[in-house]
Order: sequence, then C-alpha cells, then structure tokens
Amino acid sequence: MRTSLLGGSFTFPGTDMTVQRMGYGAMQLAGPGVWGPPADPQAAEAVLREVLDAGVNHIDTSDFYGPHLTNQLIRRALHPYRDGLVIVTKLGARRPADKSWQRANTPEELSVGVHDNLRNLGLDALDIVNYRVVGSGHGTEEGSIAEQVTALAELKQRGLIRHIGLSNVTATQIAEAQTITDIVCVQNLYNLAHRQDDLLLDDLARQGIAYVPFFPLGGFTPLQSSTLTEVAQGVGATPMQVALAWLRQRSSNILLIPGTSSLAHLGENLAAAELTLSAEALRELEQVAVLAA
Ligand SMILES: NC(=O)c1ccc[n+]([C@@H]2O[C@H](COP(=O)([O-])OP(=O)(O)OC[C@H]3O[C@@H](n4cnc5c(N)ncnc54)[C@H](OP(=O)(O)O)[C@@H]3O)[C@@H](O)[C@H]2O)c1
Repeated sequence: MRTSLLGGSFTFPGTDMTVQRMGYGAMQLAGPGVWGPPADPQAAEAVLREVLDAGVNHIDTSDFYGPHLTNQLIRRALHPYRDGLVIVTKLGARRPADKSWQRANTPEELSVGVHDNLRNLGLDALDIVNYRVVGSGHGTEEGSIAEQVTALAELKQRGLIRHIGLSNVTATQIAEAQTITDIVCVQNLYNLAHRQDDLLLDDLARQGIAYVPFFPLGGFTPLQSSTLTEVAQGVGATPMQVALAWLRQRSSNILLIPGTSSLAHLGENLAAAELTLSAEALRELEQVAVLAA
C-alpha cells in the first residue's frame, strides 16, 4: 500500500514527528481481558510486521497491556525499529494479579512505568507518553493532574520522554496540563456513537493538537447500527470501514488507531483510509449518535 493512501499525514505540534493518520492500536494483541499472552504469538507478530509493511508508522501501546507482554511482543517483532516509527505509550495504571485496573499515578510509579516501557520496548527514550487518568471505567473524572504532569515533564527534561500527551481527560485538565508543559495529543473515547468530545476535539484541532479516539470501532463490542450497515452497503464497504472513514473525515487532527489481532481485519481497516464518504452519507451517519444518545 502506498503510504500516501494511509489517510495523509499529521505532524504532532512542536515536534519533528510526522505520522500517517491511519495508525494501529496494539491492545487487542494481549490475551482475553488484555491479560496474558496472545493465543497465537506468531500470528500476533505477523500482524505487527504487516502493520509496518503497509506503511503505518504510528503504534499505540502500553506496558499495562499483558501486562508487559504486548510491549515485549512489539520489541520481538519490530526491533530494531524502522526510522520514523512513532510508538506512543501510556502511564497511570497497573494490573495486579487479580487482573483489575488500578491507579499507578504517584511520581514514583510514573517513573517506574517509564523505565518498564523503555526496557520492554527496547528504547532509550519514549516518543510520546500519554498520562492516562484512571477514574471510573472509561469515563473522565475532574480533578487536578498537575502532580502527574509535572512528574512527566521532569522525566522529559531528563531525556527519557520526548513528548507528552493525555488520555481520558477533560478540557479543564488539558488546560491545567498546558500551564506545565506542551501537550501534543489527547486520547479519549470517541466514535460514531459516542460524541461527547465533539467540542473538545474541535478546540484541539484549532490548537493543532492530535485527537486520537480510543475505541474507534466501539471497543470490545464493535459498533452495531442499522444506519451504519445501510450506509456501508450503499458505498460497498464494511461497517467498520465506514466508522473509520467517518472519523478521518470528521476532523484533520484525528489520528486512527483501530485495534485488531487479525490480519484480515487489519487489511480491511487500512483500506478504509481510501474510502471517502459523500455529504449525504455523512448526514445519514449523524443518526447513529442521535439514536445512541
Ligand atoms: N487510552 C485508553 O484508555 C485506551 C482504552 C482502550 C484502548 N486504547 C487504545 O486504542 C486502541 C483501539 O481501541 P480498541 O482496540 O480497544 O478498540 P477498537 O479499535 O474500537 O475495536 C477493536 C475490536 O474490534 C474488532 N475489530 C477490529 N477490526 C475489525 C474489523 N475490520 N471488523 C470487525 N471487527 C474488527 C477487534 O477484534 P479482532 O481482534 O478480532 O479484529 C476488537 O474486538 C487500542 O488498541 C489501544 O491501543 C486506549
């Protein structure tokens, strides 16, 4: 696939990091519940190699996927990394033996998290680290994040992190973080059916900051909607391709990181970068959010 077809490119603000807008999210490579190794590690490595072969140069991951195992898989499949590959990781949680998701957001825990990521990915510095606020599930929760962002800014000054982003955050938290350091991307839950961040993502677009929706296909339960199915049939694409094309057309600062453990789904998702929806199809798709509300 020609890289120009991967949705065009985007440069993170104030950086020399340019990525294709169609990226890849690695969370689905871990075992069930994002715990343990993949059922077929060789197939998972094949997916990662195909991601790069297709021209993708933006991979989203975290050391709490597995935990540790997804980053180790990325290292095994792709190290030494190709020039221009941007690996974005996130901190803020830990996975105890009961497989739950717990906060890990003291300055000391964040520092340990950076070193875990560096070791497991085989890097000297992390390209972009998102501070992920762990609140109630995947919903945001107000509250100061100054202590955590300050800790990450110090790790950046020490050269262990190149750039800082945020995840699962509110507009207030982003503004607070921007008084401490530059923010290059925001990763929140957003897709055709979940549009709570509509205003936020437009504001970030005005600032040139990347908005990277997690669960772009709906997450563990992919999006299902009769409108989506009808539009997909009308344009000769799959519903998941339409969901991705809609996001790409929604705003030029949106970077896509659909997750999959399947080579076939990967091919389908990457091909969505070539799909352009008509104004009429876009109007019809507005119904998905209205009906989901
Ligand atoms: N910051 C955060 O808090 C946060 C939270 C969640 C996720 N993330 C990041 O965001 C990335 C994307 O989210 P996600 O992977 O959870 O959800 P997603 O991309 O919305 O959807 C993934 C699900 O859709 C399936 N799928 C993928 N492509 C498909 C296709 N073409 N047709 C049918 N089903 C398809 C996958 O199963 P198969 O494996 O069978 O394809 C998987 O069940 C993650 O990989 C992770 O890097 C971040």
